[in-house]
Amino acid sequence: MGPSSLSDLKRKDLFQTKGYVNAEWVEAKSGKTFDVLDPATLKKLATVPEMGAADTALAIEAAYQAFKSYKNTTARQRARMLRKWNDLCLEHIDDLALILTLENGKTLTEAKGEVTYAASFLEWFAGEAERAHGEVVPVANPNQRILTFKQPVGVAACLAPWNFPIAMITRKVGAALAAGCTTVWKPAGETPLSCLAQAVLAEEAGFPKGAINVVTTLDLVAEVGKELCTNKLVKKLSFTGSTRVGKILAEQCAGSIKKLSMELGGNSPFIVFNDAKIDTAVEACILAKLRNSGQTCVTANRILVQSKIYEEFAEALTKRIKELKVGNGTEDGVFIGPLTHERAVEKAMIHINDAKKHGGQVVLGGAPLEGMGGYFLQPTIIKNMNTEMLTTREETFAPVVGLYKFETEEEAIDMANDCEVGLGAFIVTESIPRSWRVTEALEVGMVGVNLGLLSACESPFGGVKESGYGREGGRQGIQEYLSVKSMLINVAN
Ligand code: SIN
Repeated sequence: MGPSSLSDLKRKDLFQTKGYVNAEWVEAKSGKTFDVLDPATLKKLATVPEMGAADTALAIEAAYQAFKSYKNTTARQRARMLRKWNDLCLEHIDDLALILTLENGKTLTEAKGEVTYAASFLEWFAGEAERAHGEVVPVANPNQRILTFKQPVGVAACLAPWNFPIAMITRKVGAALAAGCTTVWKPAGETPLSCLAQAVLAEEAGFPKGAINVVTTLDLVAEVGKELCTNKLVKKLSFTGSTRVGKILAEQCAGSIKKLSMELGGNSPFIVFNDAKIDTAVEACILAKLRNSGQTCVTANRILVQSKIYEEFAEALTKRIKELKVGNGTEDGVFIGPLTHERAVEKAMIHINDAKKHGGQVVLGGAPLEGMGGYFLQPTIIKNMNTEMLTTREETFAPVVGLYKFETEEEAIDMANDCEVGLGAFIVTESIPRSWRVTEALEVGMVGVNLGLLSACESPFGGVKESGYGREGGRQGIQEYLSVKSMLINVAN
């Protein structure tokens, strides 16, 4: 049997239950706390501080003081610390994965995948730290020379979601620290423990006092979020989460004109064309839909299948999903873990019942998995989906696969684009010309062709429309934490 509880941690100090401000582990000034639960068993894992505006202001002040010297470190020094942090994550992958599985529910295999993905951002931005430079610009005036250079913006607030609590923190913080910014992290209330473990390792990697601060809260918007958005010492805010909360934060940030990155909700189409290989389509669909039990921003929310292969694809997918084991993420062989919180099961059931009411045919699952002790839902497949249904407009965020039918390429593109958000999309086709045409026509930030995973540290991640703005990862990621200064020199005498 593998590790299954916090007592199995090899490095006990990775389990921290306090906030982290100015290199000290702290309680909330109010003394308030909240509990963190294991969504597979509903047992309490930890009690952590419910921090408020005053705690957040202290964390921001610590980051601001640290910025005064951290901004003068060389890119090489910052790169070395990021590489060390990357190495520490990989060295402690088993412990980090266990903490992640316990608080989020994803399987240990997926959790290890997330730790590796998280570490990859640290390594990537270690490289980018030394390559984010300005340029010498050719100028029309013969008596002038113009050059640009890049400078860190200042204190960066990094707000991570519960679905990828480690990778989303390193994707933001790795870029910020590489650029020379100092940071205040706000993990999601459901999953603070993974972030706190990362603070331990970042400190060990050598980041100076105040460069890293973590404020924990269950209630993002009320106090902590508001302070991060309105405090003038914060110069950059990066948020991954819902479009609804993103709009509130953006409005609150307007008063101090902060630089913003918003990675918000998606409603990704997964389009299978008649010329697709069925096996490729099925495996890609399982990954795109069922990764993290369907709880990713880029999850395939609408599966659009061309009419000639609709039945064949539906049958092959149903057969394959039936084989997948649902259970506690710490158990061997489990492919689909619990959902992270109770509201997720309720929301999925609302979507399933709504689809049934509008003519949807449930061919697999369709109900919560009772008696398992946690927030479990049967993997569900619904055929005959149509645009009247709630799932067409909203993310389901659960292992619910809705199959829509289309006839032509134009119809698929129209269906895919008929949506207020535009994060990711997937297409499965053997035609290279079609893959170009459709990729160019889709109103999204990322397109996957013949695969089910859009995530790679080298690739810019982000959306268009109400999915937000800014890019994380890739060459673009570090630029979000830098400002450009130009220098114009008179060389006439
Ligand atoms: C997300 O769901 O927001 C991120 C997923 C990823 O980076 O793969």
